[in-house]
Amino acid sequence: MRKRLTTLMLALLALTACAQTQESLPDLSKRVFDLAREQYTLLEKNVTAKGPGAFPRSFEADTLRTSDLDWWCSGFFPGSLWYIWQYTGDEKILQRASFHTNRLSALIGRHTDHDLGFQLTCSFGHAWRLTGRSEAADILRKGAAQLAQRFDPQIGCIRSWDFGKWNYPVIIDNMMNLELLLRYGTPEEQQMGIRHAETTLENHFRDDYTSWHLVDYAPDGSVRGKQTVQGLADDSAWARGQAWALYGYAMLLGQDAVDTPHWERFCAQAEGIARMLLERLPEDGIPLWDFNAEPGALRDASAGAIMAAGFLRLADYTADEGLAQACRDMAERQVRTLASPAYLAEAGEIGGFLLRHSVGNLPSGSEVDVPLTYADYYFLEAILRLNGQL
Ligand code: GLY
Repeated sequence: MRKRLTTLMLALLALTACAQTQESLPDLSKRVFDLAREQYTLLEKNVTAKGPGAFPRSFEADTLRTSDLDWWCSGFFPGSLWYIWQYTGDEKILQRASFHTNRLSALIGRHTDHDLGFQLTCSFGHAWRLTGRSEAADILRKGAAQLAQRFDPQIGCIRSWDFGKWNYPVIIDNMMNLELLLRYGTPEEQQMGIRHAETTLENHFRDDYTSWHLVDYAPDGSVRGKQTVQGLADDSAWARGQAWALYGYAMLLGQDAVDTPHWERFCAQAEGIARMLLERLPEDGIPLWDFNAEPGALRDASAGAIMAAGFLRLADYTADEGLAQACRDMAERQVRTLASPAYLAEAGEIGGFLLRHSVGNLPSGSEVDVPLTYADYYFLEAILRLNGQL
C-alpha cells in the first residue's frame, strides 16, 4: 500500500513539474511567429535573388529550390505571409503578402490544373478575408469558374492531373481545392464541389477510413483502378493523403452551401478519418511518411501540420465532445512537437523556412526529408486555430 502511494506521489510530482515547465500556448505562438517574421523576411530575400518568376519550394543541399507560378505550391508562400501579418501586424509583411499574392493573378485565364484551389485560396482567400479588397473577391470568383471547367458531370469529379497513363485521374489531395468552389463559386459551381466530395467519399476510401491516393475513372464514371502513387504501395496509407482527406472533409463542414444531408455524411466521414488517425498516430503526433512504412522510417512534418489544422477544423463542428477534445489534444501535441528543436529551425537556418523533415514524393526520390512551403503554412494555420484566431 505504502509503495503504491509513493508511486502515485512520484507520478503526481512528475506531472506537476511537467505542467510547470511546459511553455504556454501564447508564449509558443509568440516564439514561433517572431521567428516566422524573421525567417520569411530572409526567405523572401533569398527567393528574390533567384529572379522575378521564382517562388520558394524547398531547401536542399544548402540551396534554396524554387518553382514557377504554375507549381501547385505557389500560393503557400504568400499564404504564410498573410498568417504572419495576421499575428504580428507588421506592415512590411503586409506589403510583401500583397505583392506576392498579386503575382498569382496571372493564373486567371490560362490553362491550370486542379491545384488552382490551393493556389488561390491560400493567397487571395486570405487577402479577401483580412483586407476585404474587392479585387481579391473578383479573382476568387474567376478562379472558381476556371476550376469548375474541370468538372465532368458524368464522373462527378474535378479532374486532377493532365499527365500520365490514366483516363481521368482524381487524387485525394483534390478535396482541398473544393474550398475555392464552395466559398467563392456560383450555386452551380458549389454543387460541383459537393458532388466531387460525394463521389470521392464513395470511391476513395477503404472500410477502415484510410484512403487511396488516386482513383482513375472511365468516361461513364465507373472506376478503372485505384493506386497510391506517392505512397509505399497501392494498398498503403500515405500519410499526407490521409491528412488531405481529414482536412478536406472537415473544411466542408464550415461551408454554408453544404445542405444538411450532405453535411451529416461529410461530418461522419471526417469523424471516421479522425478516429482512424488518432488510433494510429505516434505519441508525438508526427506520422511516418506512410503509415505502413517500417518503424524508424522518415517522418513527414507536412502531414503532421496539415492534420493538426484539420483536427482543429473538425473539433469546431463535431457533436462528439470526446472526439472534439481528442482532436484538440492531438493538434496541440503536433504543434508542440513541430515547435521543438527536432523540427523548428533557428533564425538564419535552412534558407528561411520554418520546419525541417517533410517528405514530398519519396517513391520518385523528390523532396525527401526537406523543408516545404506547405508544412510551414499549415503549421502557422494550426497555431492560429489553437488560439481561436481562425
Ligand atoms: N498535392 C501534392 C502532394 O500532396 O504532394
